[in-house]
Amino acid sequence: MFLVTGATGSLGRRIVRQLRDIETPIRGFVRLFSNYRELEDRGAEIFIGDLKNDKDIAKSTKDIDYIISSHGSGEDTQALDYRANIELIDCAKENGVKHFVYISVLGVDRGYEDAPVFKAKREVEKYLMASGLNYTILRPSGFANNLLPLAERFRETGIYLLIGDPQNRSSIVSTDDLAKIAIASVRVEGAKNQIFSVGGPQVITRGEIPKIFGRIFQKDPLIINTPLVVFDGLRSGLGLFNPQLQRSLGTLRTLLAHEFFCTPEEIRKLEETYDMKLESLESFLRRYLGS
Ligand SMILES: NC(=O)c1ccc[n+]([C@@H]2O[C@H](COP(=O)([O-])OP(=O)(O)OC[C@H]3O[C@@H](n4cnc5c(N)ncnc54)[C@H](OP(=O)(O)O)[C@@H]3O)[C@@H](O)[C@H]2O)c1
Repeated sequence: MFLVTGATGSLGRRIVRQLRDIETPIRGFVRLFSNYRELEDRGAEIFIGDLKNDKDIAKSTKDIDYIISSHGSGEDTQALDYRANIELIDCAKENGVKHFVYISVLGVDRGYEDAPVFKAKREVEKYLMASGLNYTILRPSGFANNLLPLAERFRETGIYLLIGDPQNRSSIVSTDDLAKIAIASVRVEGAKNQIFSVGGPQVITRGEIPKIFGRIFQKDPLIINTPLVVFDGLRSGLGLFNPQLQRSLGTLRTLLAHEFFCTPEEIRKLEETYDMKLESLESFLRRYLGS
């Protein structure tokens, strides 16, 4: 039995779908007010709880063989990105869980001080590695599904808002590929106690994204490029009213200001270890947008 946290999220939902496609027993950790009907219909066991509550975490990890931690945090990084994962790891040990798959983030080891999510994830990685559990740590770049709403807006307007340097490179990963890799990690021998950078097969600049949209919808993109200083100004302004929001925006700023891409060696290692061909961003978008 798998336990998937963040089972209603972009990644978690895909993990549950793929597990149920092969009729694997899975318990999805969900919140009561979330939209979990689809998971239930597919035959997932639903565990209703809150990852801020240790008792819920303890109960959810009973009779579990594998854990995939794929929840996000919103604003409460300390409680969810950090503490909930530490608790999950402790409970996994107590309950004799065979393998723990942790979704981290690309660049987590670069020491970004202004990015709470990155700091929390690095601390969780260290705790997991020292735990004695079998583990796989996946460090993905940005998820391709994040671009779907932007593509839909582009379809309507032809406009693409780009914040920061258009030359910044990334290797956006197909969220379906990442789900597949997370699931396979518990059985692929070469994935045991390993850390993988996970990205798509190509390194692209952020300026290329509207061009891909343009090809898909056969429309010339109108790119509105806002420099990062505008974001910084807004963030400082917000900080006057909501210092916590200002701090949590540090993670977004880090993502906007830096490059997050995998090297060809990292991609080769991933494809070899998991015996798969990674999907390009354009293919992912065409599949979902039906173009
Ligand atoms: N998105 C990216 O580009 C990206 C890139 C690199 C790494 N990652 C990492 O990948 C993981 C998955 O990301 P994602 O984009 O799939 O996340 P997401 O779509 O934002 O989903 C977050 C999930 O966490 C759940 N959650 C939040 N607070 C909770 C709580 N208190 N108790 C129980 N569940 C709670 C949410 O449940 P509700 O449905 O109830 O809100 C949702 O299922 C995260 O760890 C993220 O940091 C993401």
